[in-house]
Formats: sequence, structure tokens, C-alpha cells
Amino acid sequence: MKKIKNNSLRIEDVGEEVTLYGWVQKKRDLGGVVFIDLRDRSGIVQLVIRDNNEFYSLAASLKSESVLKVVGKVSERESKNPNIPTGDIEVEVTKLDLLNSSKDIPFEISDDTTALEDTRLKYRYLDIRRRSVTNNLVVRHKITMAIRKFLDKEDFLEVETPILCKSTPEGARDYLVPSRVNNGKFYALPQSPQIFKQLLMVGGIERYFQIARCFRDEDLRADRQPEFTQVDLEMSFVDQDDVMELTERLVATIFKEVKGIDIKLPLQRMKYDEAMDKYGSDKPDLRFDLVINNITDVFKNTQFTVFKNVIANAGIINCLVVKNKASDYSRKTLDQLTEFVKTYKASGLAYLKITEEVTGSIAKVVTEEELSNLKSKLNLEENDLVLIVADNNKSVVKASLGALRCKLARELNLIDKNDYKLLWVTDFPSFEWSEEENRYMACHHPFTAPLDSDVDKLLTDKGNCYSKAYDIVINGYEAGGGSIRIHREDVQEKMFKALELTEESISDKFGFFVEALKYGTPPHGGLALGLDRLTMLLTGTDNIRDVIAFPKTASASDLMSECPNTVSEKQLAELGISIK
Ligand code: AMO
Repeated sequence: MKKIKNNSLRIEDVGEEVTLYGWVQKKRDLGGVVFIDLRDRSGIVQLVIRDNNEFYSLAASLKSESVLKVVGKVSERESKNPNIPTGDIEVEVTKLDLLNSSKDIPFEISDDTTALEDTRLKYRYLDIRRRSVTNNLVVRHKITMAIRKFLDKEDFLEVETPILCKSTPEGARDYLVPSRVNNGKFYALPQSPQIFKQLLMVGGIERYFQIARCFRDEDLRADRQPEFTQVDLEMSFVDQDDVMELTERLVATIFKEVKGIDIKLPLQRMKYDEAMDKYGSDKPDLRFDLVINNITDVFKNTQFTVFKNVIANAGIINCLVVKNKASDYSRKTLDQLTEFVKTYKASGLAYLKITEEVTGSIAKVVTEEELSNLKSKLNLEENDLVLIVADNNKSVVKASLGALRCKLARELNLIDKNDYKLLWVTDFPSFEWSEEENRYMACHHPFTAPLDSDVDKLLTDKGNCYSKAYDIVINGYEAGGGSIRIHREDVQEKMFKALELTEESISDKFGFFVEALKYGTPPHGGLALGLDRLTMLLTGTDNIRDVIAFPKTASASDLMSECPNTVSEKQLAELGISIK
């Protein structure tokens, strides 16, 4: 068995005889002496084989990524390499065993590889040999170990829940699995263990967790995979503060154990409405300022038709102020910013440059009085740039300026890469209007408890109902979310009614769950952290594929195993399925 980590050898080990195993990372044949970098999971150690060594010609013939067993003596290096931990020593080989050779590799196993991601994903097992990918898996492992240790101490039970489940409405699209035994019927893969963890509370488990695989057939983004992992937890006899307090201690423990970073608790809390108003996002990145300002009242008497119409239509005029940068923005760059906000459905981007003589796209239509009000409201100074979006639709204004503030922060280098800003966003609306469905949908899921003060509004004032839901946000990512659940049957029924779910569809889809609520359900609540996103944050990548051993591409395929694929007629026939 392999006993020594290659990366562990130091100057103190000089003179020791060692048996090493690993892969040929690099071979340098200097004529008369061959140097090999022998890599294992821990790192690299240098081997030396001189021409008087019986293994010299074997060493000289080795190909990259061959697998070796080596016996040798640790000796001090003549020219040391301060860039690697084993840089003071090398191993003089006395026995060399080629355990296996390798085909020519499709790309070099190095951190600064220029290989395309598609090539790396096709040969993911080789990609995993690269230090950066291995390290990400190490960080992921450390996170899950810290979680298990913490939650065990807090008296949580790790319980597994089914993967073959019942398809339920709401949420994202399900991945379906046809049943062979019951032709024409389907299982769904779980989008999350939500219903089961609530049933575990009904079952008296009190504190549950699971590192759970979830499946959602939705459009993929840089921080979204069709199958991903949640750190899922649920607790009985708790309120919102209890769940948030426990979760933030868990997250702080992860930061401390994995990165040695101290997170100051309690975390800041911000209501959803304030987050949307100031940052145009329910996951605000607080590593930089650039807040959204409402300047509608400054223009209440404007004669400028665009603004006048917006105000007449109950719309809003908002802006960002970029301090001391007006002279850096050319017409061309401002045109590009305009195109950017248009992708968020804004009709345009107006701007003012605060110079001695104020210039900009709306300089001519802004009156002296409006300008002076703007200056005092926004504390404008020489060379400030004011970027304005006005629209009848408030969410268009907020979303476009929210996205613009993040773009500007990146472009202006306002973000310290080593900084972590964590906060809770609370008091989410219970419902959101769906244009597609032409009805109110659950903002979280239909089991989320409304604020006590809003229970009576569930059927009469859906637009103003808020819930006991909370998200933990880190550096602009939604790292987790949860809620206190409805535990009373009458409130649950009211919620289903508010969501316009018919009696028939309720009993068809959630009948078993509604039934369970009738048997003494304790008050309960919980949350799920996105393990992949947490790992992204702690490894500093913005690509979710970097932290998953075998990820899917943006088109939800695995390039290595070529999945999804077609199946045989026989398999289809057994399932009673024919392809259109
Ligand atoms: P939610 O849907 O907010 O909550 O998911 C919880 C967390 O999971 C992560 N996440 C994802 N990560 C990668 N790819 C995806 N496609 C993806 N979708 C979600 C996010 C998110 O915050 N059952 C509830 C939790 C609860 O109420 O207890 C739930 O699933 O980080």
C-alpha cells in the first residue's frame, strides 16, 4: 500500500529510504541525468536517475502520465526550488517500476492549461489530475466534513429520502423517469427533499439534515446545474430567528475551518423590499456601494416628455452615481451601457456628467432647479457620472440598474476578491405574478408560512402578502434559502386556494401531505444551502462546473460519457414508450 505523500518530503528526511508512487508529471532528460516530477494527489517530488543507474534508459523512455513505483533515497538538492514545498530535496532512484504507461494525453496536466473546457470535460478524469480541480474537490470535502461535524454536535440526524418521487406542481420542470412495472406512469427526480423533510418533522425526527442531490430541468447558467447538491435541513419547534441563527453559525464554522476566515455574527438582515429598492436584486452584492437612488420626486414638474410620461403612468426614475468617473466615460462606452440595460428591457439610459458645465444626454432638458435638487439629494461632486433609467414598470428600472451596478463594479475594479459579504434577505413576498400562467404563483413553495400579520390577506390582497422566508446571500450569490412552514391544516388549505389549485389537483398531487398535516404536525422550518455555490465562493471560481467532479455542460450533457443518449427499442417497449 502507498504510505508516503509525495508532497510531504522535506530537508529533515534527507538520508531516508522511501517508496513512492505516482504519475510522471514532467520528464527532463539532460543527457546523462533524467529528472522526473512525480505527482500524486498531494503534490510533486523530484526524482533523479543518473546514467550509471540500471534504470536510466527506462527513465529516459518514460512518457508523461505513466504510473510509477519508485524506491530511492532522499537527498538535498543542489539547486533548490523555493516555489514548491519539496523544493529543497530530490529522490535518488534505486529501483524504478513502470506500473502502467499512458497514451499521448490530449492536453497537458497543468493549471495554466489552454485546453478548451469541452476537451477537459470529455477527458474529465485527466482534468481532475490538475491541481486546481483536485484542490476544489478537497475544499468541497472539507466543507461537507465541517457540516457533518457541526450538525451532529447540534443533534441533527442525517436521513436519506427517496430519489424516485412523485411529480408535484410548482417550482422548476421535473426530470421524469418512466415506470416499467406501471406502464404509462412516471416517477420524478426530486427538485429538493422538501416534502420528505417536512414529513420527517411530522414523524418526530425534530432535527434532520441531508447532503442531498437535487434535479431541476431548468435553463442553465454559470451558477446552475441540472443536478446539484443541497445541504438540506429542517427543525421542529423553532421560529425564523432560530433557523437563521443556527445556519449562520454553521456557515461561519465552514468559513473558519475551510479558509480560516472569521465571519462576524450575527449577520446583517435586510428585507426583500429594501434589497430590491436599493440594489435591484434579492441577492445584493454588498462588497461595493453603488446604491440605486430614487429621483422621481426631483422631476415631478418636468417638461421632459419621457420623464413626464413615466411619472404620469405611475412609473419611477432611478439612478446610479459613479463617483469621480465622468471624464472616463466616452460617448461610445455610454452607448454600450445603454445597450446593456436594454437587455433588461429598459428603454434607454440617460446620463449627466457633473462638470463645470453639466453635459450629458439630458443636460439640455434638466432645469437649474432640478439640477440643484439632484446635486443636494445625491451629494453630487465635480466629475460624478449620473446614470438614469426611467420606466413605467418599476421592476424593469430596478433589475436593469441592479445589473448595471454589478457590471460597473467589475469594470471599475470596485470588488476586493478576498472580501466576503454575507447577509440575510428576509420577508419575501408570498406570491409573484406569472405573466405566463396569468395568476399568482408561490414565490418559494406552497408550504411557506405567511407572516402572522398577513394570513388574513392570503385570499384578498395577494400582492401585499409577505412570508417567513429567508435567503442567505454571499457576495451576490443566493447561497441558501428556506422558510418557516405552514403547520396548520386550515392555513395550508387557504394557501392552496390562494394559488388557485383545485381540490382535485391538491388531493391528486399533495393529498398524502395534506393528510399528514392532520396528525399533530409540530411547528417547523428549515433551509437548504447550495453546496456547489458555497464551494464556488470558497474556491473563488465563478463557474459551477469547476467544483463538481463530473458536471454537465450548459446543454445539460455529459461530454465524457455522451449522456443523455438514445436507448434500445426493447427498453422503450418495456416502458410502453414510443418516440414521436
Ligand atoms: P431553493 O430552491 O432556494 O430552496 O434551493 C436552495 C439552494 O440551492 C441552490 N440551488 C442551486 N444550485 C445549483 N444549481 C441549481 N440549479 C440550483 N438551484 C438551487 C441555491 C439555493 O439557495 N426546499 C427549499 C429549501 C427550503 O425551503 O428549506 C429549496 O430547495 O444555493
